[in-house]
Amino acid sequence: MKVNLDYSNVVSSNIGAKHGIDINEIELLAEKGRQAAQSLEQKIENGTLGFYNLPSMHDIADEVLNYTASIKDRFTSYVHVGIGGSALGPIALQSSLRHTYYNNFQKPKMYFPDNVDPDWLAELIEQVDIKKTLFHIVSKSGGTAETAATLLYFMNFLKEQLGESFYKNLLFTTDPHKGLLNQIALENAIKCFRIPNNVGGRFSVLTPLGLVPAALAGADIKALLKGAEEMAVLCRRQDVMKNPAFIYAAIHTIYMSRGKNISVMMPYSNKLKDISDWYGQLWAESLGKRFDNQKNVIEVGQTPVKALGATDQHSQVQLYVEGPNDKVITFMEVENFKENVILKNHFPYIKDFNYLEGKTLGGLLNSEKKATEIALTNNERPNLTIKMSEVSPENIGATLFFFQAATAFAGELLNINAFDQPGVEEGKIATYALMGREGYDKKKKEIEEASSRKKEFIL
Ligand code: PA5
Repeated sequence: MKVNLDYSNVVSSNIGAKHGIDINEIELLAEKGRQAAQSLEQKIENGTLGFYNLPSMHDIADEVLNYTASIKDRFTSYVHVGIGGSALGPIALQSSLRHTYYNNFQKPKMYFPDNVDPDWLAELIEQVDIKKTLFHIVSKSGGTAETAATLLYFMNFLKEQLGESFYKNLLFTTDPHKGLLNQIALENAIKCFRIPNNVGGRFSVLTPLGLVPAALAGADIKALLKGAEEMAVLCRRQDVMKNPAFIYAAIHTIYMSRGKNISVMMPYSNKLKDISDWYGQLWAESLGKRFDNQKNVIEVGQTPVKALGATDQHSQVQLYVEGPNDKVITFMEVENFKENVILKNHFPYIKDFNYLEGKTLGGLLNSEKKATEIALTNNERPNLTIKMSEVSPENIGATLFFFQAATAFAGELLNINAFDQPGVEEGKIATYALMGREGYDKKKKEIEEASSRKKEFIL
């Protein structure tokens, strides 16, 4: 595993005192960081914080590999049904670890419908042979409306084509005991993988919900876990000034206290693009909180923004360099690309192309990253870089683990619960009420009354 964090461009000596951080400020926070590290260790030990243990659960990886080997030849398509933490991690693993056009030449073809847009789902159904499709239904709680509805939608086709044998084309990943998926699995002998009850949705990418599709698409899941395991060692260092997760969290929380409430994630690699989406949920849902642990109203959090280098240099970077200085920008950089053809100037009469002769696309991409970093730093815009030697399963496992541990640290430093999501639950309840679910009548009435008051403001 070769992944490191370069935070030199947040240090005052490099970006100036006004927007930079004096290293003493981080050292001052280190005492709180040590308490945070201990508090996290306690939570790991007393079994309330589970994601730290996932990389070393080798028996689960073996079970996943045995399962995927046993079913691979039966299915020509795989459809992953889940939303939020049950989808974003698996999607990020797919786009970083398999060929971009995998579905054009490999089987099973992989699909990740993480929304209930009926037109979109209908187009997906046209693509698959239902009898030869494995539907992996993923829900930690087992009852999320979108996932339940998509399951019911696909069941129409499964029942129509497979009759009572429909369950043979289903796989569930859910809580070990609770939830509606478990009830269905009991009735129908459906194979189930588990999300440990001390692992929250957005921290679950290294459970079978991410491992099953990654293994089916041919990714080396053992290497993925090995990278995460190696990063876990660094992120559990009690000497917090050497702990990358603490440093990332400390920098971001210091900037939050100074009103920099936007976290931009900007990989210079298309393979890493979906990690920004996954990070967006992890950072926003974990840290965007109204109350601290003592129930004081604090309303903290950073809005995550996705950008892709070099594409967004021609779209968003103008704003980052000259607009409001309210962002902390994290680059992800890949040192070595697998394919790195040397360019030749095929138009020698165009002298202006000569600077590209003998260079590589990867070299250009990384020079552009360096150039953006320089422009930001010269304009006192804080930026950090996560650099990986190459896009490999080890490095992806390490990177995902790093961001999860950094989020856990940030939660501790902010004195909030990073592992709940009351705001999301509120939306889920309102959805149940609007859809007429039993037990939600009072909420439905409230919503109807509020909606009628709003009519006069609609033009
Ligand atoms: O991080 C979380 O807990 C949420 O974003 C969930 O992943 C999301 O709401 C889906 O929930 P579930 O997996 O229970 O269907």
